[in-house]
Amino acid sequence: MDNKQRTEELERRVQQALEGGGPDRIAAQHKKGKLTARERVDLLLDEGSFQEIGQLVTHRSTNFGLDQQVFLGDGVITGYGTIDGRLVYVFSQDFTVLGGSLAEAHAEKICRVMDLAMQNGAPVIGLNDSGGARIQEGVVSLGGYADIFYRNVRSSGVVPQISAIMGPCAGGAVYSPALTDFVLMVENTSYMFVTGPNVVKTVTHEEVTAEELGGASTHASKSGVAHFTAPNELDAIRHLRRLVSFIPSNCEEEPPALPYTPGDERRPELDTMVPENPNQPYDIRQVMNAVIDPDSSLEVHADYARNMVIGFARIEGRTVGCVANQPAVLAGVLDIDASVKAARFVRFCDAFNIPLVVFVDVPGFLPGTDQEWRGIIDHGAKLLYAFSEATVPRITVITRKAYGGAYDVMNSKHIGCDMNYAWPTAEIAVMGAKGAAEIIFKSEIAKAKDPQAKWQEKEAEYKEQFANPYEAAARGYVDEVIRPSDTRIKVIQALRMLRNKVDKLPRKKHGNIPL
Ligand code: HXC
Repeated sequence: MDNKQRTEELERRVQQALEGGGPDRIAAQHKKGKLTARERVDLLLDEGSFQEIGQLVTHRSTNFGLDQQVFLGDGVITGYGTIDGRLVYVFSQDFTVLGGSLAEAHAEKICRVMDLAMQNGAPVIGLNDSGGARIQEGVVSLGGYADIFYRNVRSSGVVPQISAIMGPCAGGAVYSPALTDFVLMVENTSYMFVTGPNVVKTVTHEEVTAEELGGASTHASKSGVAHFTAPNELDAIRHLRRLVSFIPSNCEEEPPALPYTPGDERRPELDTMVPENPNQPYDIRQVMNAVIDPDSSLEVHADYARNMVIGFARIEGRTVGCVANQPAVLAGVLDIDASVKAARFVRFCDAFNIPLVVFVDVPGFLPGTDQEWRGIIDHGAKLLYAFSEATVPRITVITRKAYGGAYDVMNSKHIGCDMNYAWPTAEIAVMGAKGAAEIIFKSEIAKAKDPQAKWQEKEAEYKEQFANPYEAAARGYVDEVIRPSDTRIKVIQALRMLRNKVDKLPRKKHGNIPL
């Protein structure tokens, strides 16, 4: 074989690898409204930046006729490239090759990019589209999954890990995405479940479709497993690129900053944002949008536990993580789902040097047997733990209610908030005036000629004394009571002041968050 023939042999092999499972299976993939693994990688990364690793890897199995089904690359495309010029590692499962099923060689390829990502400090993005463990290869498939899970955990908090679910994802295969920082699902063409509809029917006699059991909207609104959904794959890929633009490449780096030209930072619309009636709802997102750079937000878990709003945004071009009670949903009450949702986000931001800006309007924790029996004590403690542990710059803005334990939990000064601002409309107290009057003036109200009038009088008295920010400001729990229209200016100044913040946790192996 001369050199020309050798080069032709290489080209033939590369061509074979590029063809994946062949034209028929690619056509079937397109017919389902899905892109191929290579098309996804090409769209995700900056044009021409993808460098493939392990293109010629094959499985070594001869079980059940697999020796007759050898595909170059073994059903997963792995490598690295850039997003907006920044290095990322990628794996993209190829459903056209043995259903994207995972076995020994396929898993080794994924582990290789995960190891490189850890070594070189860059995010890993997994595009999942797989029938799960390759049935013919048996236990080595299980071993392959576990090798990936182990790396997911070891990489957690070191490099960002993002999973896009673009097809089936079932059985133990769901656990790698679950261990990553963010899960995005494509509507109607992806699903995730530990046991599928057939097993569910056999065991519990429930009839449920794959979409109902584990489709994108189920996981985005009911389980909270999916942080984001997209109506199609193109939108999903755009979303992944945008998400990456907010986060640093690893835990040692600062998040990327965009150029920002300072302008008039007063926001007069904030002065009338809180309604006169303290029980009337308003949308906290309008407050957040006025404080952050225009059009800079990326909401996370938008359809899950909507009484809490979380997401990335930019202030002066720099990434911040926003956490806010949402008075427009369940009066912004703290419940189990809202606490867990916010706690996980706070921990992500803290792990990756993203300052936190917290907006508080919370009437307290949600009472009731449902919440108590399902463990609101432990789950609420997660949020308390996450804030207390966070060493990034932390700013709080109390817009209205900050009642009871929820005041403490929502990034109060006592648990390490750096700058705490309150609006003149803030009410910082142990509980609402009505309930408070009922308890502390119980006998006085009972003895009164007109108990109802007495109750109202005492309620007004309590309100006068406590339903304001000044008692807290007098004790320094609030650093400054500010005009709402100055909020953006104050937050900008505080973030600048805190840019070189150094805060370290006591030396320990790791804490023990109440899981
Ligand atoms: C080997 C597989 C496969 C698998 C699919 N294929 N899944 N090959 N191992 N797990 C192959 C099919 O044989 C077929 O090959 C091709 O992929 C496409 O599959 P279809 O069934 O034609 O596609 P579709 O109708 O879209 O159905 C997709 C599917 C279905 C729902 C994913 O294939 C399916 O149910 N697969 C089995 C899923 C499963 O039970 N996996 C194991 C889970 S247990 P040809 O040659 O015909 O194109 C698990 C444990 C992990 O994952 C534990 C980790 C801790």
